[in-house]
Amino acid sequence: TGLITLDLGFKNTGSTISQITYLDGDKGELSYRGYPIEQLAEKSNFTEVMYLLLHGNLPSKEEFSSFEGRLKSDNYVNEEMKKLIDAFPRSAHPMGVLSSMTSALTAFNPKGVDVKSKEDLDHASEVLLAKFSHLCAWTYRKTQGLPLNHGDNSLNYVENFYRMAFRKPNEDFEMDPVVVDALDKILILHADHEQNCSASTVRMVGSAHAGLFTSVAAGVSALWGPLHGGANQAVIEMLEMIDKDGGDVSKYVEKAKNKDDNFRLMGFGHRVYKNFDPRAKIIKKAADELIAKLGIQDKTLEIAMQLEKVALEDPYFVERKLYPNVDFYSGIVYRALGIPTEMFTVMFALGRLPGWISQWKEMRLNNEPIARPRQVYQGEAVRDYVSMESR
Ligand code: CMC
Repeated sequence: TGLITLDLGFKNTGSTISQITYLDGDKGELSYRGYPIEQLAEKSNFTEVMYLLLHGNLPSKEEFSSFEGRLKSDNYVNEEMKKLIDAFPRSAHPMGVLSSMTSALTAFNPKGVDVKSKEDLDHASEVLLAKFSHLCAWTYRKTQGLPLNHGDNSLNYVENFYRMAFRKPNEDFEMDPVVVDALDKILILHADHEQNCSASTVRMVGSAHAGLFTSVAAGVSALWGPLHGGANQAVIEMLEMIDKDGGDVSKYVEKAKNKDDNFRLMGFGHRVYKNFDPRAKIIKKAADELIAKLGIQDKTLEIAMQLEKVALEDPYFVERKLYPNVDFYSGIVYRALGIPTEMFTVMFALGRLPGWISQWKEMRLNNEPIARPRQVYQGEAVRDYVSMESR
């Protein structure tokens, strides 16, 4: 008991001391383990960033190749998991399937449950990194009725995922380096974001000493929400709706400002960034380059650009410091790459996985106590039970 501080949505409450990711919302700065996101996006690759987040430093050549080798040795999923995915209806949203399949990994890889040492933890982390990319690919193949396949060890992590997800049977699959580079960059940008809703969920579930896989499954569920990772799908759906409705962006900007209307401009605003989202800046540039390189002309993209312009000049958005966030542009990149809308949040999950695992690992290695917030009770005072006949 004692005095309880109420902070709905934890707007000003720190939940942990962390050494993984730093972000300054006023300056629009983000770094992983001290390395600015701009440098990582330009010079690094997703596999290296996974190592960096998990282990704290960039890998040497030897460390990198043995890390990659270990991921490759787990580049498959137990055949019996196919039966599980078969049981879902084809219309199921890939994020729901992904969360269930991630939790189910526990049954097939019990070592992810019983983590007693740092070695166990590192092993479970690598098993999850390797197998989660299959699950992401399979959730998509399920929606398309495509046969479920396994990885190809001649490819790197991102290429392997891309081929697994999108290759049709008997197809000579061409790996377009422009696409792979764009994917690599976007996954790096999503790899961690300190104590966001899904990472906090992963830490919270793990704080009860639940296993890594099942904690991450909870993170997938949190990410699915349209106020969080689900925003990337919601952005494109919103742009399509505006297009169908005649393309008048001002009408939707007005709608978003109307407090009697629940509509929000998806892809705008952020809990922490009140200046700009540094990831959005990088991704916008990448999106512009990609669209130019691929020679894409898409009405939805034009609407996105108009919407951005109108909102950025509108006093409502300026006063509240509402800028386009990473999800405003990530959907545009995925769309340009030909990735279907319902897969967007799965792509975010694939990128965020090393962040979730690193947050979970830090929480366990620091022996953090079980997370258990308090509340302010404003319900009924104590009263006597009344039998049903007398109510
Ligand atoms: N459209 C219209 N008004 C908005 C929007 C928006 N997208 N975002 C915030 N506002 C208004 C809100 O109504 C409030 O106005 P007032 O002060 O008059 O009551 C003010 O701005 C502050 O908003 P808030 O909801 O208190 O801010 P929050 O920190 O609780 O929420 C947010 C942050 C990201 C959930 C919110 O901005 C939002 O719903 N954005 C749209 C969804 C979205 O794009 N989410 C992706 C976030 S980035 C990816 C990730 O890391 O998950």
